[in-house]
Amino acid sequence: MIRFIVSFFVFIVDVVYGNRSYARFYVLETIARVPYFSYLSVLHLYETLGFWRKADLLKVHFAETWNELHHLLIMESLGGNRLWGDRFIAQHIAVAYYWVVVPLYMLSPRYAYYLMELIEAHAYHTYDDHLKTHETELKTQPAPQVAINYYRDGDLYMFEETQFTSDHHFRRPSVDNLYDVFVNIRDDEGEHVKTMGALQKPEARQTFKSPHSVIELIADQAEQISEA
Ligand SMILES: [Fe+2]
Ligand SMILES: [Fe+2]
Repeated sequence: MIRFIVSFFVFIVDVVYGNRSYARFYVLETIARVPYFSYLSVLHLYETLGFWRKADLLKVHFAETWNELHHLLIMESLGGNRLWGDRFIAQHIAVAYYWVVVPLYMLSPRYAYYLMELIEAHAYHTYDDHLKTHETELKTQPAPQVAINYYRDGDLYMFEETQFTSDHHFRRPSVDNLYDVFVNIRDDEGEHVKTMGALQKPEARQTFKSPHSVIELIADQAEQISEA
């Protein structure tokens, strides 16, 4: 089933939209962020029923939707959503994806994270190929304002939350032109792949901490040691 879902995603992104880059990335970003919505819905349901309290998972998955939202806003600012047909296709696949991933995440969080690891890896390679084939032209075009705000000038807390690090070393990327923007998006997808991989480990869903929670824990421990 996982293979079928991923193959369908790859078919839409690579075959149907293979030669229209920004519409392709718009469709990719509209669909690929939806599993995070499904995870959040299920985690909120568990929290409501009092089954689990997984605040760090909620926090990081929300930051991932925020990150993907900004990828989507960047593609929209580049005209990727101009055609009604593209918006119609992307939104309808997104609704179907949401309802496929909700029961999958309830039955097996591990497989749901594995599905997302494959989708995110595909997104990483899609952007990596785009960077290699369009390097010169991308370097001559300006970065959209939404990207400048998200990666450099705005509040970077949410951006940091999606980074797979436990040592307080957050990426501080350049956003000088459109090439930099696509490098940043590609690297974000790489962070998502690492997070999805880590969450498949059996103990991970109990012990997982967001990067900022790790910093707070280290600060608390340092305080306890200095008081002792
Ligand atoms: Fe993305
Ligand atoms: Fe992603």
